[in-house]
Amino acid sequence: MGLDVARKKSIECEPLLHEKKVLVVWGIKGGVGKSTVSALLASASANIRSAKTLLVDTDFRDGASRFFLGEEARKLKGWYDVLIEGGTLDKFIHTVSPNLHVIPSGTLDSALKFSSLIAKKGVEKVARLIANTLLQIQEDYEQIILDSPVTSFVDIPILKCNISTLNADSVLLSQASLGEVQRTLNIALSVLGIKPLLFVINQVHPKILTDANERRLIIGAIFNIIQRGIKAIALPLHGSLYKEIRWRSSTVKAIVECFSFLLWGIGEPKTCVLATSGLVDEDMIKQISAIEF
Ligand SMILES: Nc1ncnc2c1ncn2[C@@H]1O[C@H](COP(=O)(O)OP(=O)(O)O)[C@@H](O)[C@H]1O
Ligand SMILES: [Mg+2]
Repeated sequence: MGLDVARKKSIECEPLLHEKKVLVVWGIKGGVGKSTVSALLASASANIRSAKTLLVDTDFRDGASRFFLGEEARKLKGWYDVLIEGGTLDKFIHTVSPNLHVIPSGTLDSALKFSSLIAKKGVEKVARLIANTLLQIQEDYEQIILDSPVTSFVDIPILKCNISTLNADSVLLSQASLGEVQRTLNIALSVLGIKPLLFVINQVHPKILTDANERRLIIGAIFNIIQRGIKAIALPLHGSLYKEIRWRSSTVKAIVECFSFLLWGIGEPKTCVLATSGLVDEDMIKQISAIEF
């Protein structure tokens, strides 16, 4: 259903934002690391690029704002409340540091109301509402990063329409199995017609790095992406084999440096082969928010 609507030419999503400032982080399923990567990108933009950055959390279940505002983030009012009730975003903006501001997604109730709004008003109108809401604060930021919810919730056409209406670049995520990478790329390019700026192959299992055949397949997938003019980065799965090792701030910093290099051509990352591991959430929350640059 969602894909059919996305294919229809009748959907018109003309750009409303003219400056290319928005980066939409998305994937075709939940749990691939959209929110984690959104938080890392926000940190890269604010701390390494020194750009005034707004992270917009639109994932009401477990979005990127938790990395900066803690587990209470999902109880705060935010993005969906503004879309439903109208008004301006500024009253929901949290200042993490002078360069990094965050808007939590808002309550589950508002997210559900937003879902009915799409059904009632249609994709184009809702995409325009989103663009107009961001237009109010666009001048205040050099970079806006939007963390997406699982696509089954917001539906695929709204994502496509959002990306065009916001004149956004996008970062697409997939897990590191070969089938998953190809399927995700195929849906993006062929079904949705979206060419992402960056493809993140996330949760690369250590087995892939030690098994020559698996390694060849994943490297082949990366070449396939790069040949289409899309930048690519592979991030390892942390915590599956080496539970005793935690995410270290040096690892987080290395990932953030790779993102800055790939997206904005800043610096020269010392390594893009990242091989530490550990339980992610609590440590990542501390590491990302406490990291010193
Ligand atoms: N590279 C990784 N290694 C291990 N765990 C990861 C990695 N990336 C994300 N995770 C974990 O996977 C879960 C889902 O990540 P999340 O960023 O919330 O995904 P999404 O936003 O796509 O649903 C979280 O528990 C997160 O800590
Ligand atoms: Mg998420």
